Amino acid sequence: MTQELYNDVIKVMTSRRSVRQFLDAPVDRKLIWEALKAASWAPSGLNNQPWRFAVLRDPDLKDRLARLTRYAATFRGAPVLVGVFLDKESSYDYVKDCQAVGACIQNFLLALASLGLGAVWLGEILKNKEEVLRVLDLPDRLELMAVVAVGHPAHHNQSSHRRPVEELVILER
Ligand SMILES: Cc1cc2nc3c(=O)[nH]c(=O)nc-3n(C[C@H](O)[C@H](O)[C@H](O)COP(=O)(O)O)c2cc1C
Repeated sequence: MTQELYNDVIKVMTSRRSVRQFLDAPVDRKLIWEALKAASWAPSGLNNQPWRFAVLRDPDLKDRLARLTRYAATFRGAPVLVGVFLDKESSYDYVKDCQAVGACIQNFLLALASLGLGAVWLGEILKNKEEVLRVLDLPDRLELMAVVAVGHPAHHNQSSHRRPVEELVILER
């Protein structure tokens, strides 16, 4: 990897912000699939690739999911919701598989940001994960890990902060 590409990756990692308000404009299906492809290049234990995706655009389905979370406005306002699931039948170690799905979700967010799209990782709805399966008519072998709301950002005013690395490194010897 060239030094230039390395710097581009770090730039996307640090400039990506959670986007919760979207323009009322459709998102090109090709962009979503491109980002899902990048997401699927995440590492996983034994390369078992335990992630599965549900791509949702139907307003009625989005509304039914919105009723299961306090982030209803983001659910309804996003042109696309992507449910990310762990396929328990592909699972070999629950903790490691959850970590792999987390890496996959982060890849997805970074790919979307690099394609100029906004997105937010939504976890609060997990309190109703069984109900989500029923709404989407999906089998019990899938466990909801997150919903990612995706769209064209309504603005770029998001800010965030991170603790300095000096506070995070607890041992270096
Ligand atoms: C596991 C997880 C769950 C999250 N759940 C929610 C959520 O339910 N609602 C929400 O608005 N943001 C949620 N977020 C987004 C975080 O609030 C956000 O990443 C954090 O505040 C840092 O902001 P940034 O992403 O703009 O850097 C979640 C993020 C993670 C990693």
